[in-house]
Amino acid sequence: MRVIDTVAEMQQQANQWRREGLVIGFVPTMGYLHQGHLELMRCAKSKSDRVVVSIFVNPTQFAPGEDFERYPRDLERDMELLRSVGVDAVFAPAVADMYPEGYQTYVEVEEVTRPLCGAKRPGHFRGVTTVVAKLFHIVKPHLAVFGEKDYQQLLTIRRMVRDLAMDVDIIGHPIVREPDGLAMSSRNVYLSEGERHEALLLSQALAEASRLVDAGERTAAALVSAAQRVLERGSRVRIDYAELRDAETLQEMDTLDRPGVLALAAYVGKARLIDNAVLRP
Ligand code: PAJ
Repeated sequence: MRVIDTVAEMQQQANQWRREGLVIGFVPTMGYLHQGHLELMRCAKSKSDRVVVSIFVNPTQFAPGEDFERYPRDLERDMELLRSVGVDAVFAPAVADMYPEGYQTYVEVEEVTRPLCGAKRPGHFRGVTTVVAKLFHIVKPHLAVFGEKDYQQLLTIRRMVRDLAMDVDIIGHPIVREPDGLAMSSRNVYLSEGERHEALLLSQALAEASRLVDAGERTAAALVSAAQRVLERGSRVRIDYAELRDAETLQEMDTLDRPGVLALAAYVGKARLIDNAVLRP
């Protein structure tokens, strides 16, 4: 496994693989890897000849006051996990290499970034699209795999790639969960034992809404309030948002007459967790 920490070296490696006619698969991450990340890598591996994983805690996607400084990091442990999956190259650049002195170029996707996390985390998606666009220019992948756990992020990247005619196939991967249902996340380490237990309420809220859909409920407000009631059982849970929106456009919906995504964000103690489920009528 090659460990690459400069933009120039990564571009050289990508150019060489492309000249050899090899298909490059890419999984961008912020590190502190878990099984969810590793599943994305296995997926990339099954569809390409060389897999590149980036590890970069991207400062521009954290709003002031968020957890950029204390975001968990453990590069050594990450390297072991990457080796165990058989990744070909890890790209782990320094902030100064990605955002050199005088940096002033940003990529912004409009409509789809406005609701949900876009409304709650100003500038977040602008940071995400900017770094992902830049990583695509450095890693030069034929395909890139993103998790449905960050559902709005996946839609935003798809939109960016279509709008800017980027020649990269975007592959969505289903949410990977712990055996008890908790969606895997690097931020789960913030949870105390008691909070870890209450964090389960997110997936339980989604399951409750899905049960109601199976029983014939189609009113968005009813589905959302059922999910909220489950979350409110947690004394340490504070809802950031709970909304049902069109699964493709993220427009509001009153009635589940087409696929909708029930998207949840909640603070459990200090950790801000997100989860979602696509509900189908
Ligand atoms: P990060 O949170 O590290 O996630 C990296 C990738 O793993 C994302 O595509 C995310 O959706 C996926 N992922 C995380 N947990 C998952 C789970 N439980 N199941 C399935 N997929 C999961 O998302 C980011 O980093 C950053 O915004 C990034 C795209 C790297 C840009 O900085």
